[in-house]
Amino acid sequence: MKKIQWQDSLSVGIEPIDNQHKQWIQYFNNTTEAIASQQNRTQISKTLGFLIDYTEPHFSTEEKYMSGNNYPAFQEHKAKHDELKSTLARLVRDFEDEGITSNLAEAIDTFLGNWLIKHIQEVDMKFGAFIREKKIVIS
Ligand SMILES: [Fe+2]
Ligand SMILES: [Fe+2]
Repeated sequence: MKKIQWQDSLSVGIEPIDNQHKQWIQYFNNTTEAIASQQNRTQISKTLGFLIDYTEPHFSTEEKYMSGNNYPAFQEHKAKHDELKSTLARLVRDFEDEGITSNLAEAIDTFLGNWLIKHIQEVDMKFGAFIREKKIVIS
């Protein structure tokens, strides 16, 4: 399973958001670690729970900054968040029904890991650029 390493190229230049991304990556790594080391269902459920539960407040934080600063691509960005939220809800349902199957492990490892990195690098980064350009200070 994949581990994601935080690196400066992932920084969007907004400290509270970077900190949340670091935390999210940590929860992601804990989850793939729990799956890879074949921990029991309760432990995997716990790590997966932390990851899922962290997503909502993280997205809300970004959405609050975006709408509060009249970010023009707000709706578009929010739509991507909403899309992931429904995918996560599906993952959780699958986990509750069947535990960790190889399909689910693959979905978490590849889809979720890639989504996260790609979303930070492409979507969150654009918001970071907007904030810099407008010289808005978020701390
Ligand atoms: Fe984000
Ligand atoms: Fe985002």
